[in-house]
Amino acid sequence: MTRIAVYPGSFDPVTKGHADLVTRALAFVDQVIVAVAVNSAKQPLFSTDERVALLRETLEHPGVEVQAFDGLLVDFARGVGARVILRGLRAVADFEYEFQMALMNRQLAPGLETVFLVPAFDLTYLSSSLVREVARFGGDVSQLVHPAVVRALKKKFAT
Ligand code: PNS
Repeated sequence: MTRIAVYPGSFDPVTKGHADLVTRALAFVDQVIVAVAVNSAKQPLFSTDERVALLRETLEHPGVEVQAFDGLLVDFARGVGARVILRGLRAVADFEYEFQMALMNRQLAPGLETVFLVPAFDLTYLSSSLVREVARFGGDVSQLVHPAVVRALKKKFAT
């Protein structure tokens, strides 16, 4: 039986933190489906298509698939046959939001487990929002994201 995990998020844009999490997950699942939320409450910098394209370019691995999804995450997970939702837990600040989501998702789909993974130490304080902020003002984010993302950010913020 193929063990499938869904890794949902906004990925606006994908960072080395996300890539690290996917690599860690592939140690215990056969397939990671990276699920890009279309209807995120946030106003994304990159369009859904751009976020999907950057993920596909940066997470090239036979066990990784990238799809956009709309609506409830649990419905998407059921549709792709996943038994696990993956989320990264970086710092204490993440905990309450993540706990709330995990409990709500369990309420909606009792058979689906949320598994939290701890990122690499040096990526613990990395977030897409910080990357966007630094890139917006011309800072160097090349240590934090794939070169394709550096290019995309430069293009986005070119005046
Ligand atoms: O990267 P983010 O923005 O923290 O990811 C949040 C995301 C996309 C995982 C969450 O907003 C989500 O699951 N959205 C889909 C709609 C849904 O199922 N909402 C109920 C979650 S409890």
